[in-house]
Amino acid sequence: MTGPLVVTIDGPAASGKSTLAERLADALGLPFLDTGLLYRAVGRRVLETGADPSDAKEALAAATALTPGEVDAARLRGEEIGQAASKVAAFPAVREALLPFQRRFAHGGEGAVLAGRDTGTVVFPDAAVKLFVTATVEERARRRSDELRRRGGRPIYGDILAELRERDRRDSERAVAPLRAAPDAFVLDTTRLEPEATFEAALRHVEALTGRRATRPQASRNP
Ligand code: DC
Repeated sequence: MTGPLVVTIDGPAASGKSTLAERLADALGLPFLDTGLLYRAVGRRVLETGADPSDAKEALAAATALTPGEVDAARLRGEEIGQAASKVAAFPAVREALLPFQRRFAHGGEGAVLAGRDTGTVVFPDAAVKLFVTATVEERARRRSDELRRRGGRPIYGDILAELRERDRRDSERAVAPLRAAPDAFVLDTTRLEPEATFEAALRHVEALTGRRATRPQASRNP
């Protein structure tokens, strides 16, 4: 198959969806958008002005003023920004304001791989391939703790577990575009899957569904 290809990858925080999305995008030769960065950039903007991310007016003002230059992963890490992102993301007007950027990104040319919470249910309900990546909250907290330790931090597992549970609850229970698998999504539970096996399973699924072959499988296997 040729022509534009949109692959959506949704799932809860710390499920490994962004890592998978990046590898798939590389293998398929498609651009990658981590849509969580948009919500994080809005959350950061609100925090920087000293306002409350749970204030609908402040959140919308930040979303409408957002510039592409602010969507910079290096400045948007950390659980404080993650929690603020999850709060601003609950406002329908904020979600609406961020939709055109996401759609333009994939409609630009050959398609795209997008990762987030609602990319397969709301942003691209007609995407050719939808994946839903998940893992138990305990496993996700363990992975997040390991990652923070590798970066020189001293994470407390219990705190991380509680933060993830809170974020899962907020992202899943909100009224608009809640976190859930699209009915036609391929669900990958990575609790007992290594990243390599997750990538292979996802790639096989894309190939089976679209007839596309990875253009650069070796590069993605040897980062
Ligand atoms: O994927 P992440 O942890 O960087 O996302 C941060 C928050 O942004 C997440 O808790 C919920 C929100 N989000 C969303 O509501 N919809 C998306 N498509 C992506 C992220």
